Order: sequence, then structure tokens, then C-alpha cells
Amino acid sequence: MTMQKELLLRFQFAKGLAYELGDTIRKNVEDLKWTKTKSGFYDIVTNVDLEVEKKLKEKVSTAFQNDVIFGEETGIEERKKPDNYMWIVDPIDGTTNFSKKIPHSCVSIAITYKEKPIIGVVYDPFMNELFEAVKGEGAFLNGKHIHVSDVADLESAVVNTGYQYSAVNMRDKVLKDYEAFFGKVRALRIFGSAVLDLCYVASGRIDGFWEYELKPWDMAAGSLIVQEAGGVVVDLLSDEFTVYSKSILATSPKMLSKMVKILKEA
Ligand code: IPD
Ligand code: CA
Ligand code: CA
Repeated sequence: MTMQKELLLRFQFAKGLAYELGDTIRKNVEDLKWTKTKSGFYDIVTNVDLEVEKKLKEKVSTAFQNDVIFGEETGIEERKKPDNYMWIVDPIDGTTNFSKKIPHSCVSIAITYKEKPIIGVVYDPFMNELFEAVKGEGAFLNGKHIHVSDVADLESAVVNTGYQYSAVNMRDKVLKDYEAFFGKVRALRIFGSAVLDLCYVASGRIDGFWEYELKPWDMAAGSLIVQEAGGVVVDLLSDEFTVYSKSILATSPKMLSKMVKILKEA
């Protein structure tokens, strides 16, 4: 099978799966069985996170037996061919929102090849919005092309951020960054789903997003969607952004230097 065919097969499969898993998330909002803490009282997991990841692993491993699956809740079971196809999955991004019945969370599926994202599929079941991108093919929201915003000045910008709940050591930096933007941009937001934050940059709803200490499942799909929407994704702490980066800034080419300046000076 050619790589193009292999890619298309996985893309269609990922989209079908995202819709199905998104339905599971939405249907379970009223029926949450349990919420447990992980590394601290702020870091939680629910029975639905586990159920969604289990379903995905079963389906992907049956359909694509040699692919590696890397999920937030269960990690990598076995790294068969690190350089081949790897599915990086966040079963629910925005678990805290979900556990409080705040309708802002999603399922995120990325497929990497040689550890670089080539497919990104994100489904928000509460808005019925599917964000998707294949490397080199553009980014789409419910089948329509999306593009990062045209805003070029800080005064007209709405930017957002988040903080990794378990990274308490980052407290000062998070607050300093927030303060640095305060009064310089039109508005600052914290929505609670880094994956959707990236998709909102891609679709021009938000003019820039940054966060530290995110994990590969928070960034792999969304970063590709931003790039394919004409945006830029950089690592604020290193020269090259990868899905393993410890920081991310996603914005438009017009806003990049302005946002970097504020964050570096904060
Ligand atoms: C979290 C969300 C949140 C971000 C945290 C993430 P989770 O993911 O994306 O917006 O600020 O850093 O851990 O725990 O809901 O999958
Ligand atoms: Ca997440
Ligand atoms: Ca999650």
C-alpha cells in the first residue's frame, strides 16, 4: 500500500472514531460514575476518560496492528516501531470542565510518522465541531477551510493561556506572563482545554495561545491544525517545537514577535 493510501485510511478511521468517542463523552456528562485524583487534588481522571481511551485502543489495535498507541491514561503499551505510525491520544481534554458539566472539552487524536504529526483530528461533542488536518493539505472545521486570524496589533487581540495543574513550580511564571499581557491585549481567557485552545487559534477565534509543561497528547493534533491553518507554533524554551516540547506558543505570523516579546520580558 502506498503511504498516501495508508494515510487516508487512518485519517478516515480517526474521524469516525472521534465522532463515536465524542458521543460517548457527551452521553456520559449526566452519568459520571467516579472522579479520582492522580498526582494531586487538582489533577483528576474520570471513568469516562478510561472508557474512551480503552475503546480507542481496542479499535485502533485491531485495525492497525503495527501502529503504536500512546494515550494519556495508559501510556505506551509497547513501542513496536517508534519510527512508524503512532497514535497520540487525549481521551478527554478538559476533564475538569467535563467533571463540572462545563460543556467545553474534546477528544484529541494525532497520528505521527517518525514522531512528527501528519494527522490531527479533534472533536468537540458539545459544539458538534470537528477540527481536522493532514500535513500539507490545510485545516478544516466541519469540512470548511479555516485560517488563523488577521489581527496584527495587541490592542485588538484576544489571547488565551492555561496552566498544567500539576506543575506547581511554574506558578510564578504563569502569573507573571498573565500579568504581562494584562492591559496590553483586548482580553485574556483561560478556557480549560489546551487542545481546543489550539483549534481556536487555528480557526481565528483566538489570536494567540501559550502554555508551559503540556504533554504530547495536549499538543500533537492541535499544533498540526494550527500550522495547517497558516499559523506558527514555537517552543519558548528551545529552538525547535516538537510534540515533546515543554512550552508552546501558537499564533499567527503577524502576532508572533509581539507575543514572544511580552513572554520573554515577563
Ligand atoms: C488539561 C487541559 C488544560 C491545560 C492543562 C491540561 P486534561 O488537560 O488541557 O486546559 O491547562 O495543562 O493538563 O487534564 O483536561 O486532559
Ligand atoms: Ca489534556
Ligand atoms: Ca485528558
